[in-house]
Amino acid sequence: MRVEDTVAGLRAALAGRRAVALVPTMGNLHAGHLALVDAARARVGADGMVVASIFVNRLQFGAGEDFDKYPRTFERDCALLREHGCDLVFAPDERQMYPEPQTFQVTPDPALASILEGAVRPGHFTGMCTVVMKLFTIVAPHLAVFGRKDYQQLMLVRRMVDQFALPLEIVAHDTVREADGLAMSSRNGYLDAAQRAEAPQMQRVLRGLVDAVRSARAPGGTPITRDALAALEQQAVDALAARGWTPDYLTVRRQRDLLAPTQAELDGDTPLVALAAARIGTPRLLDNIEI
Ligand code: PAF
Repeated sequence: MRVEDTVAGLRAALAGRRAVALVPTMGNLHAGHLALVDAARARVGADGMVVASIFVNRLQFGAGEDFDKYPRTFERDCALLREHGCDLVFAPDERQMYPEPQTFQVTPDPALASILEGAVRPGHFTGMCTVVMKLFTIVAPHLAVFGRKDYQQLMLVRRMVDQFALPLEIVAHDTVREADGLAMSSRNGYLDAAQRAEAPQMQRVLRGLVDAVRSARAPGGTPITRDALAALEQQAVDALAARGWTPDYLTVRRQRDLLAPTQAELDGDTPLVALAAARIGTPRLLDNIEI
């Protein structure tokens, strides 16, 4: 496995490659990332090139967020990537990635980027889209693999690729979970033992919301009104708050634009997704379940 930390070195290493798959990461890798690497390999085959990028992108962290303490575990990450047959790690430092202040940035559509995660973390998706666009132009991959755990991120990346007609395919990979259902995340490492024991409750509460919508939509089910759905969402928020969490949202939205479903959409079979974000102490966890 080759490691490149400059744009020029990376481009030279990839010159003439016909099938390049990119897995963008901020490092501190876990089994969820490694599943993306495996999916990338499955797509490009043995002759293709699987590239993982490791770059903690300052632009997508807000003031007071965890940029400084975000775990940098480069040697361990490389060992894991090597085990999973990654061909090349692109690990630029900040001067390489942003040799001058990044004054040209990608501003995603606020209709999607300013709700949910965007409402809680203003500017996060501009920073994310900017670095992903930059990684795409540097690596020029034929496909890039993203996890469904960061659902809104995945949607924004797909839209950016469509709107800028970028010549690559975005491949989505299912969320990888711990045995107790907790979605894998680099930030799970921030959980202390008590928080770790409590953490799967968010998925449990989210699943309760999903089950209620599914049974209302099932043949013979009692249809659910928008007001009743809002009450169920509030109950889910209250249930977590009563356990000591600070929820940002637990909500059911349309898959296509993450807006609230109309009554007809709720009654029909419009694809929906339940999304949750909440703090347990300081660590903040995200999850989602498609309906
Ligand atoms: O999901 C992440 O780890 C980051 O948002 C990404 C896509 C690597 C961009 O910094």
